[in-house]
Amino acid sequence: MSAPQLVTTRAELRSALAGRGGPVAAVFTMGALHAGHAALVRAARERVGAPGTVVATVFVNPLQFGAGEDFDRYPRTLQADLTLLGEHGADLAFAPGVDEVYPEEPQVRVVPGPLGEQLEGAARPGHFSGVLTVVLKLLHLTTPDVAFFGEKDYQQLVLIRRMVRDVNLAVDVVGVPTVREPDGLALSSRNKYLDASERDVALALSAALRAGADAAGSGSDAVLGAARAVLAAEPDAVVDYLELRGPALEPAPLSGEARLLVAARVGKTRLIDNVPLNLDLPKTKG
Ligand code: PAJ
Repeated sequence: MSAPQLVTTRAELRSALAGRGGPVAAVFTMGALHAGHAALVRAARERVGAPGTVVATVFVNPLQFGAGEDFDRYPRTLQADLTLLGEHGADLAFAPGVDEVYPEEPQVRVVPGPLGEQLEGAARPGHFSGVLTVVLKLLHLTTPDVAFFGEKDYQQLVLIRRMVRDVNLAVDVVGVPTVREPDGLALSSRNKYLDASERDVALALSAALRAGADAAGSGSDAVLGAARAVLAAEPDAVVDYLELRGPALEPAPLSGEARLLVAARVGKTRLIDNVPLNLDLPKTKG
């Protein structure tokens, strides 16, 4: 497939969208694209079909990076990103500069609520406010009927769904399952930071989640125990949290659908992963 039309200003984006027909599907990214992002673009293409428009955004959002985080060294690979976007069926790529998205310091920002302070939010104060603020802006700029987000960033997906409900945005939010390497490592732009031995250490995250999911039929204690045992065997993965929660990240249910989530530091790189599982507790009589 051919390269997408590249637009870098809001005005160009507006006129490019106006010149196209059909439903609009959006995929928002920070670039350094990989097969996980590609899965979102393909899902978007399938959803709107040939008559529709798939718009992808590439923007490293300063608002969601804390002081001392990796905003400056976050990988920027626009040419390769455009090739990948074209290969997987994007029509338009919006890759604005920081001044185009934030012509002035934004005073009004989205407050994510209590969930925004937990899990990733506890480790990265202000992160989800920055994410939701830019996602709200990108939704307004790209005006999609449907927007695709990865389950890889599960808390982000849950918070975006909640924002869409709470402020009555007319967009359908679709979650896409995490794309993994054959050995289980969840694809992430930050995997580029890992050297070969760190990459081996990083496998402990997905292995722990798999072990937990395999124990799902034996209940939540078994899930956490099995996952913890895998992580304990890899002390070079410094665990920040390992938590079992409900599908909307409420406290874990006793049975049924749940999410097991992990965050750990490997060297200087912070990694996150999660899996769905089903807690089928043995039925009690009566
Ligand atoms: P980024 O990390 O570039 O991710 C863009 C989208 O790709 C997100 O929806 C993310 O969940 C999804 N994604 C990343 N890795 C994936 C994988 N292995 N499998 C499936 N989907 C994957 O998330 C962001 O950017 C930003 O916070 C953003 C939403 C663009 C706001 O700035």
